[in-house]
Amino acid sequence: MFDRQKKGERAVLLLPYARGDGDAARRAEEFTELVKSAGAEVLGNITARVEDPNPRFYVGSGKADEVAEAVRALEADLVLVDHLLSPVQERNLEKHLGVRVVDRAGLILDIFAQRARSHEGKLEVELAQLKHLATRLVRGWTHLDAQRGGAIGNRGPGETQLETDRRLLGERVKQLTKRLEKVQVQRGQQRRARLRNTVPRVALVGYTNAGKSSLFNAITVGDVYAADQLFATLDPTVRKLDGLDCGPAVLADTVGFVRDLPHDLVAAFRGTLAEARDADLLLHVSDASDEERDLLQRVVDQVLEEIGAGDLPQLRVMNKIDLIEAEPRLVRDGEGRPTQVWLSAATGAGLDLLREALGELLGGDRVQSELHLPLTAGRLHARLKAAGAIAGESVDEHGWRLAIDAPRAVLAALGGEDAGPVRALIERAEASGG
Ligand code: GTP
Repeated sequence: MFDRQKKGERAVLLLPYARGDGDAARRAEEFTELVKSAGAEVLGNITARVEDPNPRFYVGSGKADEVAEAVRALEADLVLVDHLLSPVQERNLEKHLGVRVVDRAGLILDIFAQRARSHEGKLEVELAQLKHLATRLVRGWTHLDAQRGGAIGNRGPGETQLETDRRLLGERVKQLTKRLEKVQVQRGQQRRARLRNTVPRVALVGYTNAGKSSLFNAITVGDVYAADQLFATLDPTVRKLDGLDCGPAVLADTVGFVRDLPHDLVAAFRGTLAEARDADLLLHVSDASDEERDLLQRVVDQVLEEIGAGDLPQLRVMNKIDLIEAEPRLVRDGEGRPTQVWLSAATGAGLDLLREALGELLGGDRVQSELHLPLTAGRLHARLKAAGAIAGESVDEHGWRLAIDAPRAVLAALGGEDAGPVRALIERAEASGG
């Protein structure tokens, strides 16, 4: 008798790859990281070449036997498969192996569940999990039904339980969907409020582990959880970007992208990724030391396309230059527009170049105009002055005559009930194309 240490689940990984799937070793490594961030202990892994999926197990039956052998020998209690399985395949494998089987979608959902922080994120994860579970229950049930051929005299307690489960699941899904809709409406209202302020919004996107959280911490103040763990950040955290020429802007961190993100999950996490979709500019972070960085950039671009953020302007950040001993640099296109910054979030090299590029990209539209304020608008005058927006001024019997010269974002960020004249100024500038 052993008292097994309560360390989390003991897993064997089954890694099916087809020709043209890219670097199998790299995929195996990435899947192992995913499993570890879900908290499971990896006992061993078995790769399988699958050109022609077997309808019963997805992998061939010889491979399934090999996995069963490993499960016994290693005393595993879980098999994780780096592919999407049909509910039937998952169940067949479970029967054959005698332990729980979780596919790639199930694993990613599990990690999302552990990492979700916001109310909305949690609701979304639970909903996606329930839907995932529902396909398994429903199909399992109809499958049994077909085998039995007719229900009369066949209704057993098992079936009743399934029916109850289905009904409860359906109710919970309905309830969650309603709650989520409400949260999303609230979020939409917050977004509209933000748009009124028009502080430029930047969102960090990038393949998981590219260094988004590290960069987020390096260029904003405060501290966000950064760990060498996939999906360290699921829910976007938003913080103020300081020290830019264009005045204040906000930066949102988003969930790390992965390849083969199941399609349903992309839809389910739209809310989380909405931070990216709503941004004025995307900071697309890559790990410059990664041999597959071009491929991974394409994966990220593809997901952005799917969530409707494909056309947003991007500034590429090539992070971790300390690992390849490259110099920090700012790359511009033919028209002088910043397109790429090479830097290291860890050492801080090149962060000044990033600030320079952001300032240029966000602060493109300056408002240069005359503004008249009555002498009673002393507080607004003081705020304009503090923001560095006043280029020159004189006072006469009507009040102040100010020469305003500032990025639109700076003026928009002033806020306050007395800021009406400034908002009107911005609107006039926009109407005249300035
Ligand atoms: P997810 O949340 O999984 O999407 O990851 P992320 O993109 O937010 O990556 P994170 O900031 O957590 O960094 C991942 C790992 O890379 C951590 O171990 C960091 O310490 C490391 N890292 C980040 N930036 C640099 C860098 O410039 N140089 C080096 N050497 N390591 C870095």
